[in-house]
Amino acid sequence: MSNTDRRAYPAIAPGTYRLLHGGDYNPEQWRHRPEILAEDLRLMPVAGMNQASVAIFAWAALEPERDRFDFAWLDERLDGLHRAGVGVTLATPIAARPRWLAEAHPEVMRTRRDGVRLQPGLGRHNPCWSSPVLRERAALVIDRLAQRYAGHPAIIGWHLDNELGGDEDHARCYCSGCQVGFRTWLRRRYHDDLDALNRAWWTGFWSQAYQNWDQIRPGEGPVEGLELNWRRYCSDQVVDFCRHQLACVRRHSAAPATTNFHGDLDQYDLGALSAHLDFTSYDAYVEVLGTAADRDDMHHFSFLTSATRAFGGGRPWLLLESCPSVPQWRHSQRLKRPGLHRFHSLAMLAEGSDGVCYFQWRAGRGACEKLHGAVLMQDAPHDTRIFREVAALGSELAALSGLAGAATPAPAAVVWDVHSDWARQINSGLNSVERPRVTAHAWHRMFWEAGIGADVINAAHALDGYRLIIVPGVFLLRPGFAARLEAAARAGAQVLVDGLSAWVDDDLACVDGGRPGPLRAALGLRCEEFDQLRSDERLPIADPDGWFGADAQVQGWADRIHAEGCEVLARLSTGFHQDWPLLTRRACGAGACWYLAGGLQASNRAHLISRLSAVAGLAPCLPELPTGVLARERTQPDRRFVFLHNPQDHAVRVSLASGWLDAVGGTDLAGGLELGPWDARVVVRLNR
Ligand code: GLA
Ligand code: ZN
Repeated sequence: MSNTDRRAYPAIAPGTYRLLHGGDYNPEQWRHRPEILAEDLRLMPVAGMNQASVAIFAWAALEPERDRFDFAWLDERLDGLHRAGVGVTLATPIAARPRWLAEAHPEVMRTRRDGVRLQPGLGRHNPCWSSPVLRERAALVIDRLAQRYAGHPAIIGWHLDNELGGDEDHARCYCSGCQVGFRTWLRRRYHDDLDALNRAWWTGFWSQAYQNWDQIRPGEGPVEGLELNWRRYCSDQVVDFCRHQLACVRRHSAAPATTNFHGDLDQYDLGALSAHLDFTSYDAYVEVLGTAADRDDMHHFSFLTSATRAFGGGRPWLLLESCPSVPQWRHSQRLKRPGLHRFHSLAMLAEGSDGVCYFQWRAGRGACEKLHGAVLMQDAPHDTRIFREVAALGSELAALSGLAGAATPAPAAVVWDVHSDWARQINSGLNSVERPRVTAHAWHRMFWEAGIGADVINAAHALDGYRLIIVPGVFLLRPGFAARLEAAARAGAQVLVDGLSAWVDDDLACVDGGRPGPLRAALGLRCEEFDQLRSDERLPIADPDGWFGADAQVQGWADRIHAEGCEVLARLSTGFHQDWPLLTRRACGAGACWYLAGGLQASNRAHLISRLSAVAGLAPCLPELPTGVLARERTQPDRRFVFLHNPQDHAVRVSLASGWLDAVGGTDLAGGLELGPWDARVVVRLNR
């Protein structure tokens, strides 16, 4: 496939279509070792690297004292990287503050929930998101950087900040400035009407009513709407802080901008942030213990990157950090066995990444990440297994450049909404009932195992184009979401809602009219009681049409519902719950709304998904996949690529129809192929 072929999407980096292969590169730490800097430029091409994320933590190197800038080292590096054929994703270096700044202006540091402001020496992340002085100083250094390098031929894009939100609750600053901002934000949300806020938050409870806006402070207390809206406000500050950085870049440069998402995607609303990015990115550190848990972890990252992809509107995204070896923070320092780096990297391409990047190119000699696996370890010889595996992957990515810009079809969607997740975290009650993320994970896994593309979407995401939409554990319904689900069904989608969904409104108050509130009419039912089952309880199912497969039983929870206009397809069959509906369906325009009133074990869930997929007209991207083999497709206008992964300890034979070629070597695969244990292949076929 040549670079002139048609592509589904524009390239994520300017220039010819290629998959990116690169990583974080921190030359400022090695300025005293020119021979190392020279070696970097020599070895990057040997490793097949064509990208470097530069200056992420370099604010102190760029502005060693207030208003004194030093760009000489970066001028030299960018020129050198360009000569070496390495494109630079230049960072806005705001994720760590120089000491002089935090010493002079302690208010740039985050204030914790207990009111303690963090000390200047605290390494990185942890800013006050709304600090005017931080924004002002950030604007200055970004402006100087962007102005100087916007026209540099090495620049292929911008890396905004780094892992915004950091860890734990770093996305929330409790300083007085942030709290004042919160009250302004609330006045906007409730149209300056304190009574409206009091009603929405149900503050009649325990004499919690606010008499004036200044009484509203984040923190403990029985008013759940307070904490939920505080999280939203803080989320908006993170998004705004990132937009501020982007605006500074945009004064000089139109190159594509991204920022690296990380962790569980739940510290702030990444969907809201994504609207401002040219493409989304994710940092994935997969577990490789050599046990069955590795397969679970592989799906864990499929889930998170399916959300990353959906946040980016389905366009290609970028794996901006991964570890070619073992991160030092891993509980186990067991090495990745040969081939696993390639295996897991290809799994990320299968999810729509248009490249593989690392943390980091070369590990530093000191400080707390010196033992974190990198392509190169300090100044040790590069003749290593890791370097060879990275270089081999580099060659393979070059051979797979036809994938760049390909779509990642996802005809199914699983809804996981951060507002709903927060609501369950804050909600008093249901504490030991499965969490939205766990439920969403379980549903998404079924598609992943079956070879059917599924996005993970939030409640603000466009629903058109999805033929099967699962709404599992979406406890809080954002305004308008119910109507949009119904519209999607009307337009032809199959929409399945479960009994853990539709409990509360946007302020964490119970839905009007009883569960499932605004979805009652579309589903044609009402819920009366929710029963959490003992962990050893199993409820048999009367399932005459076989929706759930063999050994059908409910576990975990059961929802007692009254059918009011829906068909009942399966019921609970004994005891207290005997005859209560379990699965219902109500036709809705060209599609239907379904309700599931009980928790399922994996095999029954898999069976239900295969039946619903058949109703929705969805099929695995390759027929007759051997057990345990994963298949994922990416498409260009004139061809389909299928990724085959075998995350199990024995080899399998995959049969293929005629026309399939090995996407790397071009070999004709008529008759199929042999896939070794923990091996992966990419195959391609022209559309007929
Ligand atoms: C994160 C950060 C990097 C580095 C790695 C280590 O992903 O973005 O700067 O600290 O973790 O795993
Ligand atoms: Zn603050």
